[in-house]
Amino acid sequence: MADLAAAFLFLYGLKRMSSPATASSGIFVAGVGMVAAILASFLYVFDVVEAARPHLYANIGLAVVALAIGGGLAWWSGKRVAMTAMPQMVALYNGMGGGAAGAIAAAELFGNRTSGATELVVTLLGALIGAVSLSGSLIAWAKLDGVINKPLRFPGQQVVNAMALVATLAVGGLIVAAVFGIAVPLLSLPVWICVFFGLAILFGVLMTLPIGGADMPVVISIFNAFTGLAVGLEGFVLQNPALMIAGMVVGAAGLLLTLLMAKAMNRSIANVVFTNFGDAPKQKQGAIVGNLKPVQAADAGIAMRYAKSVIIVPGYGLAVAQAQQKLFEFVKLLQGAGVVVKFAVHPVAGRMPGQMDVLLAEAGVPYDMIFQLDQINDEFATTDVALVIGANDVVNPAARTDKGSPIFGMPILNVDKARHVYVVKRGEGKGYAGIVNALFYGDNCDMVYGDAKVALVAMIEAVRGLTAAAA
Ligand code: TAP
Repeated sequence: MADLAAAFLFLYGLKRMSSPATASSGIFVAGVGMVAAILASFLYVFDVVEAARPHLYANIGLAVVALAIGGGLAWWSGKRVAMTAMPQMVALYNGMGGGAAGAIAAAELFGNRTSGATELVVTLLGALIGAVSLSGSLIAWAKLDGVINKPLRFPGQQVVNAMALVATLAVGGLIVAAVFGIAVPLLSLPVWICVFFGLAILFGVLMTLPIGGADMPVVISIFNAFTGLAVGLEGFVLQNPALMIAGMVVGAAGLLLTLLMAKAMNRSIANVVFTNFGDAPKQKQGAIVGNLKPVQAADAGIAMRYAKSVIIVPGYGLAVAQAQQKLFEFVKLLQGAGVVVKFAVHPVAGRMPGQMDVLLAEAGVPYDMIFQLDQINDEFATTDVALVIGANDVVNPAARTDKGSPIFGMPILNVDKARHVYVVKRGEGKGYAGIVNALFYGDNCDMVYGDAKVALVAMIEAVRGLTAAAA
């Protein structure tokens, strides 16, 4: 019953996470499901026959200590983590999920507890996927955190990777043979199991090393799907329904998220995993005409104060500057002056799914002011001002028009169609795709150079000064 309740709560929680308005309660509901599943697992062991549970109390004591340490660390790091470091955190936790699935498999394999051929193969598959997810996610963490700051590539890399995978599968085959009493060469079964895990971990590392740091959010999402699958498979081995359902939910969610991210970037999963986005030699971009026109933040602020409608497009730079509070302060001033303000959020703005929604929610922006790409894109053409804050690729019109551009075909926010555009960014830095943005050179576009927070403070002061002068 507890497992069933946990499964229901996971699914219901996930459903609630699909809207920002209900997301935090969804996380809470899923958390209650997790507590139910953990409690049930603890209570279950009392129900197992005495002989199957030696050292019961000592083991429970160890598990409680592990939970306290893990839970405490998670609580502490979750409280401290900066919004921009969230992808790293997701990578770490995802890796731990894969590692946990691998550890279950290791316990089953070393304890020789798998009863039939199907169970053994499923255990090994879960072990392989879990171990790949563990080491791959750790490399993804290191890349996102800047610990590894260069993709590592060498000639024939795909062949080496394929060989590592084939070797892992072959050792898996040897283990199956050994368990069923067929003599295997060279090493004993426990050593072959170690070799199997070693190779699987190596494959995860090799597979992730060549992928550029910028593609890591998609890679983490792929590993997320792997972790879910590994957990689900081990749930099958342990005959634990909560684990099976949780694993499948995570696996399916990870897979869908991967597909959605790839679609929003107009790239295939194979393109993410096997090509070097951003630093590959690309086709020549279409020529860009026009000049960059810098203006003062204060002037831009005052112009927006006198506009009728403003659509704000937040991007990665807003998260870097942590300027969401200041942005909303500025928005409230505009609203006070009668300006209609809306936010337009691109599905892959920032560096992780939903990052902009989370940032805006953190600043207290009401959900009914936030619109997704397809809801608002037609409105730019009838809007006085589009304010782009720290966004770049997601407003690059080359995606619509320039076949030579690496982002050609990616759906973008039609900011260039607004009557006037202000772009806040620090300088001439390129976006994630590493390309120049034709929007910035358009006749209707002015550049406000500076850190987003500093620029917004100047805008706020200018509009406040205006109101004070009028009073
Ligand atoms: P980007 O294209 O990365 O552009 C961000 C811009 O912010 C840069 O041009 C940078 O210019 C500016 N910036 C950085 N720090 C700033 C600061 N402190 N103050 C003001 N501006 C600052 O961001 P985007 O438009 O949000 O696009 C996201 C990109 O990431 C897309 O290409 C997308 O495909 C990719 N991506 C997204 C995801 C997800 S799931 N969101 C996952 C993987 C990849 P300066 O250096 O000149 O300031």
